[in-house]
Amino acid sequence: MRLYDRAYRTYPAYIGNTSPPTVREPVMSVTPTLETDVLRRQDPAMAELLLAERDRQSTTLQLIAAENFCSPAVLAALGSPLANKYAEGYPGARHHGGCEIVDVAERAAIDRARELFGAEHANVQSHSGSSAVLAAYAALLRPGDTVLALGLPYGGHLTHGSPANFSGRWFDFVGYGVDAETGLVDHDQVRHLALGHRPKAIVCGSIAYPRHFDYAFFREVADEVGAYLIADAAHPIGLVAGGAAPNPVPYADIVCATTHKVLRGPRGGMILCGSDLAERVDRAVFPFTQGGAQMHTIAAKAVAFGEAATPAFAAYAHQVVANARVLAGHLAAEGLAVITGGTDTHLITADPAPLGVDGRTARGRLAAAGIVLDCCALPHGDGRGLRLGTAAVTTQAMGEAEMVRIAALMAAVLRGESDPAPARDEVRALTAGFPPYPG
Ligand SMILES: Cc1ncc(COP(=O)(O)O)c(C=O)c1O
Repeated sequence: MRLYDRAYRTYPAYIGNTSPPTVREPVMSVTPTLETDVLRRQDPAMAELLLAERDRQSTTLQLIAAENFCSPAVLAALGSPLANKYAEGYPGARHHGGCEIVDVAERAAIDRARELFGAEHANVQSHSGSSAVLAAYAALLRPGDTVLALGLPYGGHLTHGSPANFSGRWFDFVGYGVDAETGLVDHDQVRHLALGHRPKAIVCGSIAYPRHFDYAFFREVADEVGAYLIADAAHPIGLVAGGAAPNPVPYADIVCATTHKVLRGPRGGMILCGSDLAERVDRAVFPFTQGGAQMHTIAAKAVAFGEAATPAFAAYAHQVVANARVLAGHLAAEGLAVITGGTDTHLITADPAPLGVDGRTARGRLAAAGIVLDCCALPHGDGRGLRLGTAAVTTQAMGEAEMVRIAALMAAVLRGESDPAPARDEVRALTAGFPPYPG
C-alpha cells in the first residue's frame, strides 16, 4: 500500500473547475517507485509492461466510453493484502475463518452503496457487470423464460440475448429497437412486444445508447404485463451517483451495474434491489454463480462509493455530461452523424461515413494518432460507427475547451487532412497537460 501512496502521491480529485489546470509533470517522470522498488527487481519483464501501459494511458486520449482512471486510494485497496483472503459467503456467515476484518470492509461497501443509490439492499460481490446480470437472471428467471431487451444491433449488451452468451442460450430473448429517424428507444414497439410476448422480465440498459432510459415508462409496461424490470445501468450508474442521471432504483426490481466506468471504481459489478428480493439476489450471486468474493475489490468498491458520495464527484459527473455534449456538438458540426443528435450522458455514438470513412477504418486512423475509442453497431445503418465517452478525460480535468480541440483533431484525422504523426504529437502535447496521476 505504501508503494501506491508514494507512486500516486497526489491526484487531480476533480473540483469542478473547467479551466485547464496548470501543466503538471507527466506521470512517468514522477512515479517510478512502484516498478523500480519491487516489481522491476523481481520481474523486470512484467514491470516493463506495467510501465508501458501506464505510459500508453497517460500519453494517448482515453475515449473508450467504458473506461476511467480510478483514484490512487482505489488502486491502494486493489493492491492490498485483502487480495490474499478467501471469504465465501456473506459478512457474519462465511465458509472460511479469519473473516472478521473483511466482514467489516464488505459491510461498509454494502452500506455505502445502499446510501449512495437509495437502495434497500446491495450485493457488492459480482466479479463483473456480466456476472451481475447473470445473477439477476438467476434470481428472477428459469431457463426458457422470455425476456424483452434492447436488441444487440441497437446497443444491447451480450448479456441481453446474444447467441454467443449464456443469456441467448438459456433464455428466449425478444429485442426491441430504436426509431429509425430519431435513434430513440421505440416505446410503442416496447409496449407492443411486451403485450405480444408477455416476457417474464424486461431489461433496460445498453452499451451504446447515449440517452436516458425512461424508467417510469418501462415500469409501467412491466406492470401491465406482470414482468420484472431489470435495469442494466452498467454505464450510467456513475452519473446516477453524482446526480447527473436519473436513478433506476425506485423503478426497477433489480439494478445491475459495473463499478469501473463513470463510477471510477475497481473493475467489478454490483446489484441493487429491494429487501423483498435481497435473499434471492444474494443466493444467485453466491453460491449460484460465484465462489469466493474478491475482498480487495470489495474494499476498493467501498473506497469508490465513498469518493462518489462527495460534492467533488457530483461536480465531476456533471462535467462528464457537459463535456460529452460539447464533444458531440462539435463532432456533428465537423460533419459526423451523431446518433440521436447528441447525448444526455458520458457516451456518444456517431457515424463517420459523411467524412468518407467507415467506422473500422476510422478507429484505426484515430488509434494511429493516439485517440483511443471503440467501434459499435449503427442502429438501422450499414457498417460500424464509433462509440466514445468523456469519463476518463474528465477525470484528467479536461473541460469544454479540450473537447473542442479533440473534436477538431478527430475530424482532421478522419478526413485525412492531418497525418497521424503530427496529430499524435498534438495528442501528446494535450495529454501532457492533464496527467491522470500527477506528482
Ligand atoms: C450494459 C452493460 N451490461 C453489462 C456489461 C458487462 O460488464 P463487464 O464487462 O464488467 O462484464 C457492460 C459492459 O460494458 C455493459 O455496458
